[in-house]
Amino acid sequence: MNHKTQLGSSQLQVHPIGFGANAIGGHNLYPDLDEEENRQMVNYIIQSDINFIDTAYAYGNGRSEEILGEVIAESGRRESLIIATKASHRRVNGETFHDNSPDFLKQAVEEALNRLQTDYIDLFYLHYPDKKTPKNEAVAALQELKEAGKIKAIGLSNFSLDQIKEANKEGCVEVVQDHYNLLHRDLEQSLFPYLQENNISFVPFFPFQSGLLTGKYDGSESFPDGDLRQGQADFQGQRFQDNVKKVQQLKPLAKKYNVSISNIVLAFYLTRGPIQAVIPGAKKPEQIDNNLKTMQVNLSKDDIALIDQLFK
Ligand SMILES: NC(=O)c1ccc[n+]([C@@H]2O[C@H](COP(=O)([O-])OP(=O)(O)OC[C@H]3O[C@@H](n4cnc5c(N)ncnc54)[C@H](OP(=O)(O)O)[C@@H]3O)[C@@H](O)[C@H]2O)c1
Repeated sequence: MNHKTQLGSSQLQVHPIGFGANAIGGHNLYPDLDEEENRQMVNYIIQSDINFIDTAYAYGNGRSEEILGEVIAESGRRESLIIATKASHRRVNGETFHDNSPDFLKQAVEEALNRLQTDYIDLFYLHYPDKKTPKNEAVAALQELKEAGKIKAIGLSNFSLDQIKEANKEGCVEVVQDHYNLLHRDLEQSLFPYLQENNISFVPFFPFQSGLLTGKYDGSESFPDGDLRQGQADFQGQRFQDNVKKVQQLKPLAKKYNVSISNIVLAFYLTRGPIQAVIPGAKKPEQIDNNLKTMQVNLSKDDIALIDQLFK
């Protein structure tokens, strides 16, 4: 069955279940990554139904893009994939800051094209706003890159509503990415109405809140030094216990639809107006297979309302 869906006003056709690649080459985020396993995962993904892959310069300072570029070039499947990447992190004399200036963006896109071994980037996001560049000027630079065929669609990540409005003065923004999941739903009220009015797709990052929303935790876990979860408030003390309890309340629904809790969670996101696709991370092929099973779930109105209530 063809499940592909269009992202906002762009021409991009993606499978609703994508893949977030920050654990591919993201040595600065995950200390124990094995690049051979990473390559096998990318190969597995591009042979699955998934066609939407999300990366960024910031994941391993270009290493994620490089590994994706190598594996995709070897596979000969570039044309069937939608690759999203992001930039804004600029390193000068060992210091990193955000830069959205037109000159930097043009350079960043050229460098990403090289690392990804491709002639075009399907979706290019400003990863973070900088402090100085007018947002519409940054987007105008991306529009020029689009007209030159180097990128196919324009995205913003980690921008506030006011910053998005400024960036979208000419109506060129097609996709917005930000932190959203069942434990963090503020953007439904504050941002989604604007996105829907302007036909902009929303791609939530941390859809599982680093695995917490898959239902795999029972609250007894602790996390070693250097583990991303150790620094997240959702994994601390009573809040962690409360989160685990809430997620476990999805068990009966998972049973009813004969899928896992993670499928119920992803299926719920796909009922939210501006969300056409999700990009969960995954470290094992079984997780990819499992996440794709979301397409079997068609949540009833009552079940959507139930999830809505549980995670109010
Ligand atoms: N724009 C931004 O600033 C920004 C920021 C953060 C992330 N992102 C993007 O969002 C993507 C997703 O975020 P994320 O990967 O950090 O977090 P996530 O999607 O919330 O969680 C992914 C983790 O959940 C676990 N998992 C995945 N599928 C599972 C399944 N079916 N069953 C059980 N566990 C499963 C895996 O970890 P374990 O196996 O270790 O439990 C996996 O690494 C990133 O890869 C990146 O592309 C963007």
